[in-house]
This record gives sequence, structure tokens and C-alpha cells, in this order.
Amino acid sequence: MNARLPDSYTSLISIVNPNSKPQTHDNNNTKLVFPLLGSIRLTHQLRMGINSVAIYLLSIIFASFSILDASNNGNGPRFSQENPIKRSDFPPGFLFGAATAAYQVEGAYLEDGKSISNWDEFCHSKGCGENGENGDIADNHYHLYMKDIEMMHSLGLKAYRFSISWSRILPRGRFGEVNPLGIMFYNKIIDNLILKGIEPFVTIHHEDFPQELEDRYGSWLDPQMQDDFVHFAETCFKSFGDRVKYWVTINEPNLVTEMGYEKGTYPPNHCSQPFGNCLSGNSDIEPLLVMHNMLLAHGKAAKIYHEQFQLKQGGLTGLVAHCFMYEPFTNTELDREAAKRALIFNIGWSFDPPIFGDYPQEMHEYHGNGLPKFSPEEKEFMKNSIDFIGINHYSAIYAKDCTNSTCLESSNRVIKGFLEITAERDGVLIGDPTSMPRFFVVPRGMKEIVDYVKNRYNNTPMFITENGYSSPNVENVSVEEILNDYKRIEFHQAYLASLAESIRNGADVRGYFLWSLMDNYEWTYGYNVRFGLHYVDRKTFDRIPKLSAKWYQNFLKNNTFIDLTPITTPESVLQQADI
Ligand SMILES: *[C@@H]1O[C@H](CO)[C@@H](O)[C@H](O)[C@H]1NC(C)=O
Ligand SMILES: *[C@@H]1O[C@H](CO)[C@@H](O)[C@H](O)[C@H]1NC(C)=O
Ligand SMILES: *[C@@H]1O[C@H](CO)[C@@H](O)[C@H](O)[C@H]1NC(C)=O
Repeated sequence: MNARLPDSYTSLISIVNPNSKPQTHDNNNTKLVFPLLGSIRLTHQLRMGINSVAIYLLSIIFASFSILDASNNGNGPRFSQENPIKRSDFPPGFLFGAATAAYQVEGAYLEDGKSISNWDEFCHSKGCGENGENGDIADNHYHLYMKDIEMMHSLGLKAYRFSISWSRILPRGRFGEVNPLGIMFYNKIIDNLILKGIEPFVTIHHEDFPQELEDRYGSWLDPQMQDDFVHFAETCFKSFGDRVKYWVTINEPNLVTEMGYEKGTYPPNHCSQPFGNCLSGNSDIEPLLVMHNMLLAHGKAAKIYHEQFQLKQGGLTGLVAHCFMYEPFTNTELDREAAKRALIFNIGWSFDPPIFGDYPQEMHEYHGNGLPKFSPEEKEFMKNSIDFIGINHYSAIYAKDCTNSTCLESSNRVIKGFLEITAERDGVLIGDPTSMPRFFVVPRGMKEIVDYVKNRYNNTPMFITENGYSSPNVENVSVEEILNDYKRIEFHQAYLASLAESIRNGADVRGYFLWSLMDNYEWTYGYNVRFGLHYVDRKTFDRIPKLSAKWYQNFLKNNTFIDLTPITTPESVLQQADI
């Protein structure tokens, strides 16, 4: 079988055949030379327990013709609607939602008693988005939250993951009072979500904190930040815990350390050569210290929750890590080891301490005395300090050994585990590119990362706390092109199919949060990197549903019919869409 097949087929194949090699992508079509295609698809369909052989045969024929043809420069729809992933492929109580983070959507950066955060300071002093943009107004969600909750309701979301702006509710950290207007804002959000039957899934800390904590003692580099975080978390449990049943203590500590203290591109802009040019920092040492303080902050807050709140409030706490899937660059022992190391230096670094009570053995071996130590008492409270694991997964990438081959100077170091990541092998990318430099479309990565986490942590309950797609950034893109986001639909269908496969094989995954509800402020990339189900007009702040919003709405109703009628103008969208 050597047919022109839509991308969703490549995903299905890689899902059911874990040994399949990454596929070759070119600009217009995915060319597949895959002699076992038939039997593999058959296996898949039998496992799904739905189709007869006749339908299967029909579908193969259908697949060859049903591709909405690319008379559109390859940017249009490339996938088949035949046998798409369904809501009913997931357990009944599975929490489907969407996610945002305070700094990326709220705006109102100085209103109602909020103080300047580290990101406000950083963006004002440096102009941090690509065009000097910042999150001062963002999506103006602070004022439009009711409209946004309506939007979530009409999408049919069962849960909404959002974060609390630390500087809004504790403008001076533990050095000042709680800001009642800040508490009131999140009360309104939580109450209105619950009124609409949407579960609030709260991230306590997602990147932003009061700048005063940076100025006073250097924030996460100092153990004092643990006390501040515990105070913040306790304030959240007390104020919102009667209604909030899902708490993420900290979002992506492994990415915070990398961007803020190794590469130095995020606040507080710390790094050293050869990682970058920063005024201060030490890229080999500071990431370890920052991670240690973040993990201990999590552990202490979780201990308080478990001891003082959980019995009364009945909620769960978790930690979220940024989880790439790493695949060996070549099929050699050294690269296979490098891929394992990459997983351990990210996933193990983040989740071993809050589950097993200490860093992975391999990290002890590599870092020796450079690795901060947990005291026996700390090990005790760190152990089993999470009720669930949060996986933010976007991409798979290759890991290449540096111990026996030439690498960049910034890769061939212990802090990186002596490995380099790359998306390209023999001139072929691991998956279709996106607007994020390290994110490629590799649906099998979802299943691979979930299975890895499942096996390493004895199937601790998991949530996919983020997964999303941003189209490659093109100059002068029209609103129409943004709205007709076939590739985003294709991405989510394929990643969800991959996830469903893991769940069928026993992975205890309890929910999926699509990043993001709407286009928003994408940190140092500004507003031109769009992950949203809704387009946000930067002048009027109108939210306009993309085709993917209609798809998600249908999907959540277990409706497999997808109306892919192209959206022609924003006005027609507003008339067409019933959301
Ligand atoms: C290390 O690299 C050399 C030169 O490329 C190669 O001959 C050798 O087999 C490699 N060692 C291992 C353990 O793969
Ligand atoms: C984008 O628009 C600008 C201003 O109208 C124009 O100068 C530029 O050539 C356009 N770029 C492309 C790739 O069309
Ligand atoms: C969902 O849709 C499929 C067909 O597309 C159907 O077989 C299944 O029974 C539906 N499940 C529910 C819960 O409605």
C-alpha cells in the first residue's frame, strides 16, 4: 500500500505500532510506504471494538478519495473524518477541559490592588514579546470573565484549568495583607464555573509572583520563597478550598528553571556562558537550587493540604511538569541511553522527589555533591506528596548522546545530562513544525510519555494538564486563515487517539486540558503564537470561535460529525457558530 494518506492515518499507525519509525513529512502530503498498513489498521479497529471488516475495507478505499483535496497550497484540510476519535472512547467521568494562566489572559495588571509581578517588571523593562508586547491587558479576562465562562459552557467543558495571580491576592507576599478584591475576583470565577457545572481546576503558581519577592531575597534562589509559597497556597486553600477540588501547586518547575535560570530568556534573566549573555547567574548551578526550592515549596504546601484541609475539603493536589517525549537520535546504545537520561533529567527530576522522596539515582551519580540534598525529615514529607501527576505534553524530540560525539558546548554538560536535543534526523523533521521552535507534531509521543509516567510511578493518577497546537507563524496571516484551523483539529484528534490507546492499555489518566481556551499572551513570543480555540481580536477583545472550537464542542457531545465548512469572514462566523 503506497497511498497518499492524510496525517491522521500516520498518527493511527504510529499509535498502534510502537516500533514504527517516524514518518517522512513533506510540505503537501505525507507519503507512506507501509506494507503492513492494512493489518495494522485492522488491529486498531478490532481493539476499538467497533468495525466490521467490510466497513474496514470500505474505509481504506474511502480514505484514498475522501481527503478534502489540497487545491489550497497544502494549507487546507488534510484529514479524513472517517472513524475519528470519539468522546465515548474515554471513560464517562473523564474531565475534558481547557486551560489558561493568569498572566497570559487576565490583564488588569494594576487594578484593584494588584502589585507588579516578576513578569510585569520583566516585560516593562525589556519589552518581552517579539514586538515588545506584554501582558498588561492580555485578553482582558479580568473584565470579560463572565463572557469567557459562557464560552466554556457553550463549548461543553467539564473543567477549566486556570491559575491564581499571586500578586493579585497577596500583593506583598507574606510581607503584607491579603487583598480582598483579589480574593473576590477568583470567588466570582469559581462560583460562576460551578453554576455552569464546570469543575474549577486551579494552578496555584504559574510563572508570576510579586516582584517584591525577587527584590527582597531573589525569589526561588532563596529558601525563603518556600515560606512565601506556603503562605500563598494556604491562603488559596482557606479562601477557595471549600469549592476547589483539584489543586496544582506549581506549573512546570523544570521549564521555569530552564528558561529563567539556564537560558535566561524568562525572568529573572539569569544565565552564564555558554548558555547566554545575562548580567548574572550560573546556568550550571542555579537551576538545581531553584528546582530544589520549588519542590520543597510544593512538598510543604501539600503537607499542609493533606493534614489540615483534605479531610474537610476532599480535594486532591498535584504537580505539573513540562514533559517532552524523548526518542533516541540513532538506534545505538549511546543514544538510547541519552533518551532515557533526558526523561530522567526532566520527568524523574520533577516527579521522583514528590513520589519517592528523592532525586533519581542517575542524577545523584551525574551531579555528585552538586545536587541539593533532602534531609531525612524532608524526604519523609516529600514522599507521596502528590495525589496526581500533571503532564503538559506538546512534542516529542530526539535525544543524542554527547559523551562520545560532538555536541554544542551548552549540551555537553552535566546540567543537561550530557545530551543534545534535536528535531531533525537525516534532513527529516520528527514531525510537522509549529510556531514553537521545539514543538513538532508527533502524536505517538502522547502515548509514549503517558506510558513512561505510568510505568515509572506505578500508575499514579494522571491528568494531561496541557496539550495544544500553534500554527507556524507566517507573516501577514489573515484572520480567515487563523479561523480555519484544520491543523489544530487534526492535531487534537491524533493526540487524543494516542491518549485513548494508553488509557485502553490501563493508564489511569483522568482528564485532558486543551491549551488553550483562547489565543493569549505566549510569554516571550507575544501574541502572534496562537494556541487558542478562539481568536481574540486585539482591538475589540472579541473572542471569535475557530473551526476547532466547533470541533471540540461536537466532540464533547460525542458527535462525530464535524462541520468543516470553511469560515469565510469573521462576521459569517459569528452568525454561523452557535457558540
Ligand atoms: C564512540 O565513538 C567512536 C568514534 O565515532 C566509535 O568508534 C565508538 O564505537 C563509540 N563508542 C561507543 C561505545 O559507541
Ligand atoms: C506583509 O505586509 C507588509 C505591509 O503591508 C508588506 O510590506 C510585506 O511585504 C508583507 N509580507 C508578506 C510576506 O506578504
Ligand atoms: C458515541 O457515539 C458512538 C458512535 O459514533 C456510539 O457508538 C456511542 O454509543 C456513543 N456513546 C454515547 C455515550 O453516546
